[in-house]
Amino acid sequence: MDAEQKSVELNLEYGKIDAIIGSYSGEKSALIAILQEIENLYGYLPTWALKYVSKKLEIPMIQVYGVASFYDAFHLTPRGKHLIRVCLGTACYLRGSSRVLEAIENELGIKDGETTGNLKFTIQSVRCLGACALAPVMVIGESYFDKMTPTRAGKVLKQIQGKKEDD
Ligand code: FES
Repeated sequence: MDAEQKSVELNLEYGKIDAIIGSYSGEKSALIAILQEIENLYGYLPTWALKYVSKKLEIPMIQVYGVASFYDAFHLTPRGKHLIRVCLGTACYLRGSSRVLEAIENELGIKDGETTGNLKFTIQSVRCLGACALAPVMVIGESYFDKMTPTRAGKVLKQIQGKKEDD
């Protein structure tokens, strides 16, 4: 992609951010809501978008960045298409969820909190998913997997990796 194409694409993205900011009438007090919409749009908060919001709302970048990095709901790096959440809450932990997490980390070659280079998977450990009776619990996207074992987790991952849409 040449520089001109990049600039056109970036202008298109700026247009999307403008629309979000416009829907809040450019109110500085709507910063969190605006960041949430940008997060929903891209799956994370790109640095260029934070800089643009900072400029448009006339809020110092350090303040925008501070808000973006404070809340768990915001992410500053790209996330994988499939978000794998492994519960390390007490009930799940006692039934071996740390070994499930380890198996997933080994299978994907990344650590908890990281995303694979091809942006297919992100691993995120969590504290209680509210389904303790089904421990150990793993969630991929919106799908719950109960009574997980390292072997079952590996099989589920292989199934997802084998799907055509991910090729
Ligand atoms: S501790 Fe894992 S679902 Fe509650």
